Amino acid sequence: MNKNEVVTIIYDNNGYDKSFVDLVKRYHDINLVSINSLSATDFKRSLLLIIQVNLADPNSLRPLKEKMLIPERDNIPVLFLLNEFNRREVVQANMLGASDYIVYPCPDEFFIKTLGELVSRVVEKAWKKLSHTQEMALKVSLKVLDDAFEDAINGKEISQKELKESCDLIIEATAKDGLTDWMNAIRHHHNYTYRHSMMVCGYLISFGIHFNVKKTDLQMLSLGGILHDIGKAFTPLKILDKPAKLTADEWVIMRKHPSNSRVILSEGNWDPDVLDIAVHHHEKLDGTGYPDGQKGSQVTDLARMTAIADVFSGLTDKRSYKPSMSSEKAIDIMLGMEGHLDIPLVKAFRSAIMPEKEKIYAYK
Ligand SMILES: [Fe+2]
Ligand SMILES: [Fe+2]
Repeated sequence: MNKNEVVTIIYDNNGYDKSFVDLVKRYHDINLVSINSLSATDFKRSLLLIIQVNLADPNSLRPLKEKMLIPERDNIPVLFLLNEFNRREVVQANMLGASDYIVYPCPDEFFIKTLGELVSRVVEKAWKKLSHTQEMALKVSLKVLDDAFEDAINGKEISQKELKESCDLIIEATAKDGLTDWMNAIRHHHNYTYRHSMMVCGYLISFGIHFNVKKTDLQMLSLGGILHDIGKAFTPLKILDKPAKLTADEWVIMRKHPSNSRVILSEGNWDPDVLDIAVHHHEKLDGTGYPDGQKGSQVTDLARMTAIADVFSGLTDKRSYKPSMSSEKAIDIMLGMEGHLDIPLVKAFRSAIMPEKEKIYAYK
């Protein structure tokens, strides 16, 4: 396990609350460790520390104070779960280096939001290594994507203007600095759906650059990529973020997202090509895909390209129930997916994403 990969949960003799541990597991690998066995090695692996101990118990407080002074603990955000909101507990937590604290139990949504914000701090620190253009493109587009999902959930029309502007930022960042660093930075974002949407957007831009398309087509590809799973706004979070493979019944619900995209994008006069990407990226050439069971030539080039970007992102990304796969292995598997994917296009995709072949896009 590498540095900054796990959420370390620290508990005392009272044990820990399984319900929040299950919530953390939805998003991260975890390391459960009692105060007494906590070591520098645990800190080295940690992305975030969550501490649930009785701060009123000297037998817990004393060893925790010592361990929190270990140098490797520096710069790791710490979330304290307090028994109750009283001054004494808050002061103790702050003295022990709390980045944030919440009274637990609390509603799941609140816990997830707090967790996400703390992890984002670490991730955003890593983004400082990006160029200014890349960092801006990442921050703005994630915010705009978040707004788009919120609007879709609330039945509001999605702002095309903001999305198009953020796509222009991504294209500009790509033109200046290439896609590799940007894609590596997005790989660490905690929200799988956003991460995946941004990755598919990036891969479609790579495809567009590879085929030397004109700027308006590149804008359409990036917009289609970022929005391709917007229908997941209607998918329950417990299915979307399930830390295990889906059951057959859950798959039935998950497979509704392209139809939901059609409903969401029916408002607002969207480019038909963007709609095609969002609705048809799960069609298969042999007609066994969904939602429309399109076959052969009915599946457009855009839907074929998005299917490739989508499958590649899924295979190479890490989920709590499966490790990430190398690009080479993923492409090998995809080359064997005849009937599902367009194989000549998979070969073109392989050329498009190889970093050594990354081309700097020349505006036309
Ligand atoms: Fe999808
Ligand atoms: Fe997708």
